[in-house]
Parts: sequence; C-alpha cells; structure tokens
Amino acid sequence: MRTATARAHPNIALVKYWGKADEELILPVAGSMSMTLDAFATTTTVTLDPEADEDSFVLNGSPATGTALARTTRFLDHVRELAGSRERAHVDSMNEAPTAAGLASSASGFAALALAASRAFGLALDERALSRLARRGSGSACRSVVDRYAVWHAGTDDETSYAEQIDAPDLRLVIVTVDGAQKAVSSREGMRRTAATSPFYDAWITSTARTLEEMVRACAAGDPTRIGEITESHALRMHAVIASSEPPVRYLAPASVAVFDTAAALRAQGVFAHTTADAGPNVCVLTTPADAERVAEAVSAHGSVRIVGPGPGAHLVDETVDAG
Ligand code: ADP
Ligand code: DP6
Ligand code: CO
Repeated sequence: MRTATARAHPNIALVKYWGKADEELILPVAGSMSMTLDAFATTTTVTLDPEADEDSFVLNGSPATGTALARTTRFLDHVRELAGSRERAHVDSMNEAPTAAGLASSASGFAALALAASRAFGLALDERALSRLARRGSGSACRSVVDRYAVWHAGTDDETSYAEQIDAPDLRLVIVTVDGAQKAVSSREGMRRTAATSPFYDAWITSTARTLEEMVRACAAGDPTRIGEITESHALRMHAVIASSEPPVRYLAPASVAVFDTAAALRAQGVFAHTTADAGPNVCVLTTPADAERVAEAVSAHGSVRIVGPGPGAHLVDETVDAG
C-alpha cells in the first residue's frame, strides 16, 4: 500500500488571476502574484487502492460527488499519466478555511493534492514541476506550492506556466470572514462568463500584465505602500470586470464593501490598510505587522477576523510505502 499526506495553505492574490488562455492546460491570460498564508491549511491524504476500479474523494468528512469529485478524478488522471499507473486512489481532504467561499480552498486543496498524489504514485517532483501539476487542478494552486510570496509566470505552454518565489516586505493580511457559505458561481464558471461576455475583458488582460510588472518592481524595491495601492486597485478592477459580465456576477456583499470603507478610513488616519477580495464575499486587508491589531479591531464589526502572515508552501507530512 502506498499512502502520502500533504499540507498546503491558501494563497491570496495581490495581483489577480481571472481568465484562461487555455482551459485544458489551465494557462492564464496574464501572470499574477500572491502571498501564501500561514493559516487555514488543507490536509490531504492519498491512498492507492489496487482493488478499486474508481477513485473516491471525501472532502471535509463527507463523500464528494458531482463537480468536486469529477475535478479530483480528472486531476488524478494527470498524475497517473505522469506516473504511468492505472491504479485508483482514495483521497481524504480537510480544509480549515471555508470551502468555495473565496478564501482559496481550490488553491490549498489542489496544492496539497498535487503533492500527496504525486508521492503516493511514486513521483519525486521538484518545486517547478509540482507547481505545474497543481495548476492543472486549479490555476491558483500553482502559487500555494511556493513559500511566502509567489509570482505565477503566465507562460505560453505547460512547461512555461508555473509559480516561483519572490522577495517582498513582511506584511500581514487581516482575513475578514463575512460569510462562509459556498458561492453561487464558482471561480471557474465566473471566469468563463467574464471572458465570453464582458466588453472590458481585453483591457483587463492587457492592464493586468502591466500591473504585475509594476508589482514585481514594488516588491523588489521593498515599497509596501505601492504594494498596498496596487493590491487594492487591482482587486477592484477584477470585481469591476466580473460585474460587467452578462448575466452579471457580484461576489462582494454589503459587509465586504463595508470593510473596504473601514480600511479607507483607517488609511486617512495614517494606518497601513489596503483591501482585496477574491471571488467571494470574504475580504482581506493587507497591513504591516505593526498595524495588524489595529486593523483587526476596526474591521471586526463586519465578520470574524484573523491576522495571518506569509506561510510555507505545500509540504509532505507523512508517507508510507510497503510491499503489501
Ligand atoms: P475557492 O474560492 O474556495 O477557491 P473555487 O470556486 O475556486 O472556490 O473552488 C472550489 C472548488 O475547489 C470546490 O468546489 C472543489 O471542487 C475544489 N476544492 C476545494 N477544496 C478542495 C480540496 N481540499 N481538495 C480538492 N478539491 C477541493
Ligand atoms: C479570484 O484558481 O480558483 O481567486 O483555475 O478555474 O480553478 P480555476 O480558478 P481559481 O481562480 C482564482 C481566482 C481568484 C484570483 C486569484 O487567486 O488569483
Ligand atoms: Co479557487
């Protein structure tokens, strides 16, 4: 029996990925940049089962069905292809963050699955290969393979589209969980709709490529203020292009918008606070270690808050290989 357990954390993009150039390979229309968190991990165990003729997947203690099961099975097909195996597997995964609520469960989920499955199937992938594999499960997962801060190079094919670590100042995110319920429109579906219907989509693609270059420069210069400004304006641009789809999609709730306003008021008082949100109502306020408590206190009226910092990439926790 071969079994492997891996852990990975969600990552929150400071320059967002929203749109695919290739749906099959999950190549993005532009690069992106993120912080891997030090909290809200996913822990995933993959056990090969020589007797089974189908994969099985238990997510957060319940058997997964439908799209969630299909995505995992499809992902295991990629791993089997790489490993030259036909064996089926049992996957058991727990998310510490809410699932499908805009706190990057697909990122931590597929990064943990990429590592656990590759080990269970006997593969030893380096960081870049693991990032490329995780990308096939969920684009954002390629960044959760990496420690602390990551840039996902958009690339032009499977080999050239992967995330790698970059240096950036030590910052914090105040995560405000406004609503832990599953979103009505998945990131995958929302992206398709934006690409198919938004008149602003081309501008989103070209401007994101430029924004990423600017973000990389701000990180290299160690300029937290510029990093914060880019983070908030890029998040709002993403929500704007999403809202311009047809039928429209709106991920932010009134309480999410209230967090943007609270952070803006703090900023006017000289506090470091710049807001971002992924595809869901939950919001993250980028701040410094020194200002984190003050920000957390100010936004606590809008949801449950947690201060997180840059955390580790996907890592193996346990591995058992025996001949039986
Ligand atoms: P999120 O904002 O949480 O990333 P997405 O819409 O991108 O939401 O993705 C949610 C989907 O990701 C789930 O419906 C499921 O298919 C998949 N997913 C979430 N957690 C895991 C996990 N631990 N293992 C495998 N797949 C997962
Ligand atoms: C808003 O990576 O979840 O969080 O590749 O279809 O699985 P798929 O989408 P996903 O999209 C993430 C969108 C985002 C922004 C980001 O994380 O960069
Ligand atoms: Co996701």
